Amino acid sequence: MDKKQFKGGTGLRTTVWLDATNHDGSEEAIARAASILARGGLVAFPTETVYGLGANALDEAAVRSIFAAKGRPADNPLIVHVSKFEEAVPLVQSVPEPAHRLAAAFWPGPLTLVLPAKGVLPPVVTAGLDTVGIRVPEHDVARELIRRASVPVAAPSANASGSPSPTRAEHVRDDLDGRIDAILDGGPCRVGLESTVVDVTGPIPVVLRPGGIPAEALLRLVPEIIIPPVGGSAVEGVPRAPGMKYRHYAPATRLLLVEGEPDRVVGVIRREIASWQARGHRVAVLATREHAGSFQADVVRVLASRRSPEEAAHNLFAALRDLDQSGTDVILVEGMEDAGVGQAVMNRLWKASGGEIIHAR
Ligand code: TXA
Ligand code: MG
Repeated sequence: MDKKQFKGGTGLRTTVWLDATNHDGSEEAIARAASILARGGLVAFPTETVYGLGANALDEAAVRSIFAAKGRPADNPLIVHVSKFEEAVPLVQSVPEPAHRLAAAFWPGPLTLVLPAKGVLPPVVTAGLDTVGIRVPEHDVARELIRRASVPVAAPSANASGSPSPTRAEHVRDDLDGRIDAILDGGPCRVGLESTVVDVTGPIPVVLRPGGIPAEALLRLVPEIIIPPVGGSAVEGVPRAPGMKYRHYAPATRLLLVEGEPDRVVGVIRREIASWQARGHRVAVLATREHAGSFQADVVRVLASRRSPEEAAHNLFAALRDLDQSGTDVILVEGMEDAGVGQAVMNRLWKASGGEIIHAR
């Protein structure tokens, strides 16, 4: 028997572990996962961004069970995954011109296009909206799974609602063991954070969520595209509690994001460490490789080099999950430049902080 097979102790389902990490077994693992999907089951599967929690998008009961397993609010629509562009066409009323350009350039890949829905999917998928988010993932295992299941696959990120998205099969197990039917293990996700969501239903395309395709690449292709700033403004030197409606992508531990000019950020984090420790708290710092040596905290973890937003994206969610297990009372995070995929990294950190941002000037 597969030594990684396990049974869910807390939920209502037995979660089967299917190993698609080595070439020999992966075909059978994918075939089993596809048949579970076709029978109305829930399968967590790897994509190049994060793990998704998939169900047959045409099966209303199966889609409903996604929301139940994650504890996801019903008013948050799901992304529908298809294995190639042609499979998106029957799900939508039209593919506007900029969407053609974007799909041709970035599919398969970490881009979701919000398109006018045709009404072939049950309303629960789109939370009753007349639009639908569609994506062709690049990960071979994901595309082979969708192809074999022969249905569009509705899939949010495979985390418990609100917690950091899963970038390894083990993260899915930690959150959803006993609540889903299978975990298809494809190893760590390459990008590490979610797809860029672009709404192409209006006269001018709008980025709804920064992600794996950076703004610069979108602008080259669609110069008129609207790209909102990463987050709201922070009050100088003071962490701001309200301002954002809810935390998301967040560890259970309190997280403070320190952003601004790099040298000043180091100074502010050092002062914060001292002040939290003086009050008897244990402090974790998530820092750039260049600055990690400057911090005398209880736990210091390197996120990435300042020069590599790709490395930061790849490591971000795993680092937040690890730090949540480190027994500290607060996590101080060194912000990065928001160029390239760094914009998505900073967006996730803004959300994870719940608005508790210190702007170092
Ligand atoms: O990379 C990803 O996008 C991953 C992998 C699994 O594909 N999926 C993912 O799904 O991040 P989820 O559910 O965690 O995030 C989907 C985002 C949500 O912010 C949702 O509100 C938005 O996409 N979305 C989906 N359909 C939409 C629609 N019709 N209109 C506007 N926003 C939509
Ligand atoms: Mg999510």
